[in-house]
Amino acid sequence: MFQDITTLLLDPRAFRDTVDMFVDRYTGKGISVVAGIEARGFIFGPPIALAIGAKFVPLRKPRKLPGEVISEEYVLEYGTDCLEMHIGAVQPGEHALVVDDLIATGGTLCAAINLLERVGAEVVECACVIELPELKGRERLSGKPLYVLVEAR
Ligand code: PRP
Repeated sequence: MFQDITTLLLDPRAFRDTVDMFVDRYTGKGISVVAGIEARGFIFGPPIALAIGAKFVPLRKPRKLPGEVISEEYVLEYGTDCLEMHIGAVQPGEHALVVDDLIATGGTLCAAINLLERVGAEVVECACVIELPELKGRERLSGKPLYVLVEAR
């Protein structure tokens, strides 16, 4: 079964409520960076960043970002993939929130955490709309807190 957030986006009230739940949780927490994971972290991350007064940093698939990047490979069910982040986008000591639509095996979020920690940022929490708890992805997050709105079984 494929968990898809596009129907949520068709309902402006539901989309707004979803963003607001994250905004309520992260406002005033000293977060200066919202890092969104390509592709659907780019839907939820920017409105959260704007509302809490943080910058938005896209974590992109390989060869998409124009500047100098650091890269982090991660393992998929079949093969590997990679996330990249612009060097200089995040400074050492900054507090970061990682946003994506969904956590399955946790490999993608783990790569995002590694990218941010490699440049000296502190990952305060990871936030997803949906978790597939049976895949135990949160166990791969090196103890970083994970906040989700929906557990899909
Ligand atoms: C999906 C989803 C997450 C990731 C979660 O993206 O949007 O980013 O998988 O999986 P994991 O927890 O097992 O790593 P996908 O890899 O399909 O890429 P896309 O957003 O570019 O389509």
